[in-house]
Amino acid sequence: MSYESDVLRDWYLLFHFGAPEEILEGVGFDPSYLPPRCLEFPTTTVEAARVSERVERALDIGCAVGRSSFELSRFAGEVIGIDFSQSFIDVANEIRSGGRPEYRRYWEMHLSDSLRVSLPEGTHPDRVSFEQGDAMNVREDLGAFDLVHAANLLCRLPEPIQFLNRLPDLVRPGGRLVIATPATWMEEYTPKENCPAGLTLEYLKEHLEGDFEFQEANELPFLIREHQRKLQLSTSQTSLWVRRS
Ligand SMILES: C[S@@+](CC[C@H](N)C(=O)[O-])C[C@H]1O[C@@H](n2cnc3c(N)ncnc32)[C@H](O)[C@@H]1O
Repeated sequence: MSYESDVLRDWYLLFHFGAPEEILEGVGFDPSYLPPRCLEFPTTTVEAARVSERVERALDIGCAVGRSSFELSRFAGEVIGIDFSQSFIDVANEIRSGGRPEYRRYWEMHLSDSLRVSLPEGTHPDRVSFEQGDAMNVREDLGAFDLVHAANLLCRLPEPIQFLNRLPDLVRPGGRLVIATPATWMEEYTPKENCPAGLTLEYLKEHLEGDFEFQEANELPFLIREHQRKLQLSTSQTSLWVRRS
């Protein structure tokens, strides 16, 4: 599946920036049955870093349309958001520059209305920059970060090991790493030989524990509205790591 399509852009803008009542309008069930905070996923994965003070630099890799990057700007002096999709980066940049891009919310897949993005209060777009790039081959001069955040990216990579191997250079000693993944490994994204042989968390431990100390892992729920009758409810196993000194 390509992340360049207009429909994906619409789904992700609603997922990242839609108000709960906008996401849930018209759904045919009682929303009180939904798991708490499943509509705030781009915020909850940032909170999973458990950063309690101001930091200098944060990297949001696989940032999509940018909501977590803006959330990181609440406590980071500089935030870089990187995504492979040029269309996601273009719209993230439009939001960063004060634009309120219009997007479609679907009722049936052939029927939609239009909404506009609002940037959440208290975020600092002036601290954020977005760029197109490949998580498996990020530019050499990116430098090191106090926090690297990678949400729902890992199982979309053809060679996840290349991304994991780069992380020790990207996280400063004592810095934090958040990797959230629903572990939806699929051959259309990752060839079988590059997928974990067993549990994804064990695979992460095997590849990261030389350079990072594992802290904890929690299941964070998220809900993506495709249309009024099709809502994807998933959880993402979200692990926190600290770079060894
Ligand atoms: C499932 S989405 C998750 C987006 C966002 N982090 C979130 O949690 O909503 C996966 C994102 O990873 C991006 N992506 C896929 N392959 C990538 C790569 N090689 N490098 C950087 N980003 C990539 C996609 O364009 C998409 O925005």
